[in-house]
Amino acid sequence: MSRRSSADPRTGVAVLGSTGSIGRQTLDVLEGLTPTHRVVALAAGRNADLLAEQARRFRPTIVGLTEDVAHPIDTPPATQFVQGDQTLEDLATRDDVDVVVVGTGGVVSLRPVLAALAAGKVVATANKETLVAGGHLVMPLARARAAHVAATRPTHALASPLGWLRPIDSEHSAIWQCLVGERMSQVARLTLTASGGPFLDEPADLESVSPEQALAHPTWRMGAKVTIDSATLANKGLEVIEAHWLYDAAYEDIDVLIHPQSVVHSAVTFVDGSLKAQLGIPDMHIPIQYAITHPERAPSPVAAVDLAQVGRLTFRRPDEARFPALRIAREAGRSGPWASAALIAADDVAVDHFLAGRLPFTGIARLLDDAVDRFARADATDPGMEELEALDTEVRAAFRKGPVVAR
Ligand SMILES: NC(=O)c1ccc[n+]([C@@H]2O[C@H](COP(=O)([O-])OP(=O)(O)OC[C@H]3O[C@@H](n4cnc5c(N)ncnc54)[C@H](OP(=O)(O)O)[C@@H]3O)[C@@H](O)[C@H]2O)c1
Repeated sequence: MSRRSSADPRTGVAVLGSTGSIGRQTLDVLEGLTPTHRVVALAAGRNADLLAEQARRFRPTIVGLTEDVAHPIDTPPATQFVQGDQTLEDLATRDDVDVVVVGTGGVVSLRPVLAALAAGKVVATANKETLVAGGHLVMPLARARAAHVAATRPTHALASPLGWLRPIDSEHSAIWQCLVGERMSQVARLTLTASGGPFLDEPADLESVSPEQALAHPTWRMGAKVTIDSATLANKGLEVIEAHWLYDAAYEDIDVLIHPQSVVHSAVTFVDGSLKAQLGIPDMHIPIQYAITHPERAPSPVAAVDLAQVGRLTFRRPDEARFPALRIAREAGRSGPWASAALIAADDVAVDHFLAGRLPFTGIARLLDDAVDRFARADATDPGMEELEALDTEVRAAFRKGPVVAR
């Protein structure tokens, strides 16, 4: 990690997107880690009131908003306030920051992630675009960081790319936890589990389900966007792409299994036929904390899973005819970064249209299919940072006006 100028021996943490669902849960976790971790920097988009409240609660060195607000926010005297486009990058690369937790949505997170890795920071990310759009940019940096450490300290946690780019998603955290102490060459398959969302078996006709029905997730409490993505299984498709980049796994070696109880968070099958899985109650505080404390574990206020109470764990294969977004995302991943970056930008727009009543539930997958068709460039050189940002803008503009896809 980068050398720090601060005299405080505790690990310095920056939280990007501190006002969101992941950000708020990260702060809960950090409250319990006060003896070893210090909140140094908090950043958000526009929620000035909540950011100010968080500043008063944690007394970080600096807080910032990417959107300009008319007046400086009410922070404690020792907390600096900044605003503007550079906020995420500036806060993520500070000398007194060791670990950057990324809880921002969107491609806006990619530049700060790249800058943080280049500056020698550990990045713990929930953000999907980091890998779905930018896996080809981010993973080489994490690998280079790891190789540098491995040359002198081969058993150190930072001798692995996963030590540098740490997944927060419960599925990827589960796979990571299963892989600790294992060799990637001895991994046969990865299995991502999915709850199946609220429409696993019914209604038969998904065309007319409402946003309220789609937001009623049976097991997880998450932000609206990721909850709708769980209902369409687009979320699982994005996670397949993330797993491809994180674990350097071929698409044909990544399975998806429906597991309605959401207790087995994912699993790894090894060449000898052994299968390791990670289990826990569905609560993001656990994977967030693991990403911050790895390779250590710390007590957590979250209850451990009680297998006797769970009683029964069931699994089945997903129905890709009913949930085509999973197949579309997998195909986009195989096509490469242009297609997967277009897919994730289009998904954001599609979910917005659905939540606003401008697109039927089944229209989300149709819009994704259309986006991949129009913007995949399988033969082109992989996009750089500027091209990814331009593509994101182009895709959003192409689909912004509704109604966008005929019934
Ligand atoms: N929620 C979950 O349980 C969960 C689970 C797994 C993965 N994820 C992934 O984690 C990411 C975050 O999800 P979430 O549910 O926490 O989202 P969320 O509740 O919508 O929060 C997003 C956060 O990002 C900030 N933000 C948005 N645009 C920004 C910008 N341009 N510059 C700076 N900050 C910006 C928001 O700030 P303001 O509110 O101040 O504008 C907010 O703090 C997504 O990629 C999601 O797919 C979430």
